Amino acid sequence: MTGIDILATGSFLPPLTVTNDDLARCVDTNDEWIRTRTGISTRHMNNGEPTWYMGACAAKQAIERAGIDPSEIGVIICSTVTGDYHSPTISAVIQREIGALGCPAFDVAAACSGFVYALDIAQKFLSAGTKYALVVSSERLSAITDFTDRASCILFGDGAAAVLLRASDSLFSSWLSCDGSGMRYLYAKMRPAPHPFMKDPVHIDDGSDPDAPYSVLVQDGREVYRFATKALPRAVENALEGTGLTPADIDLFIPHQANIRIIETAAKSMGIPLERFYTNIDRCGNTSSASIPIALDEAVTRGVLKRGMTVCFVGFGAGLTSAAAVLKF
Ligand code: UT7
Repeated sequence: MTGIDILATGSFLPPLTVTNDDLARCVDTNDEWIRTRTGISTRHMNNGEPTWYMGACAAKQAIERAGIDPSEIGVIICSTVTGDYHSPTISAVIQREIGALGCPAFDVAAACSGFVYALDIAQKFLSAGTKYALVVSSERLSAITDFTDRASCILFGDGAAAVLLRASDSLFSSWLSCDGSGMRYLYAKMRPAPHPFMKDPVHIDDGSDPDAPYSVLVQDGREVYRFATKALPRAVENALEGTGLTPADIDLFIPHQANIRIIETAAKSMGIPLERFYTNIDRCGNTSSASIPIALDEAVTRGVLKRGMTVCFVGFGAGLTSAAAVLKF
């Protein structure tokens, strides 16, 4: 069996919401600019909830809805770029919280494409005989947001979502990619800890700005925008290759929620009506790898995504990564 069934979904959005007007009190911006340039009105932000905690809440909801015993989970794969520890992974903490001790658990860092990367890896475990796989995407983007940079701080939000998966015979096709030559367009630098033996440290150029602040996202918005509008249709096209399907056969697209204009431009270039793209960016902003599964959980609970429909997840982001997966829900 090489397909996957999404048995259940779950999500967690921290209760604290931050409006565009709230942000206008931090930086020189306004509600009208943010809404018309990005489609975002409000977003959720943690009020102390760690990334693992949000992920564990989402995972518990998915497990409860699937009605399985957590001890039956054979692998836990989390996607995040905002983990709480350098080590261990959030997967380890989430595993403890949900009571699925023993199975392999690891994190995937592929930025906003992380959910699709994790789904693809989970499919490989399932096709090799694992009974159930749990994929959790959890992000605390506010922890790496530069709240003095008006061009980026208006974009991001926090949240988590999870899917409980089982192997099936139904359709699954995916495509993953990374173009590392574009890493300089979107990054958050770690602050290296100096060790006691360091003298006159060398500087090795990797394309990032040596003067860029540590620990916060730095982006060239226009370059990322340009990349995203091309990457989205290309990822869909590549994921569909060999399936006999075209974009017109997809009942619902669930894209990474980065900017409504990116989704509109991509939909237009693919000749697909915007209504077939599920969006919640107005209420959640960009939650990196969590954005696709948060939107998925919402589409399921609102009855927009129904059993039997063909769905396409498509993500793009820092790396520059892009990825898409097509499956029968
Ligand atoms: O997951 C991937 C993460 N990143 C992204 O998805 C980012 C993709 N890029 C974008 O979404 C857009 O490029 C932005 C929303 C970041 C910016 O929108 P834009 O339409 O590309 O604006 P721009 O950078 O071309 O700036 C236009 C103007 C500039 O002013 P001047 O130079 O024309 O006077 C900016 O300084 O808008 C100004 N500006 C703002 N004004 C009010 C930039 N940010 C703001 C702001 N409020 N928040």
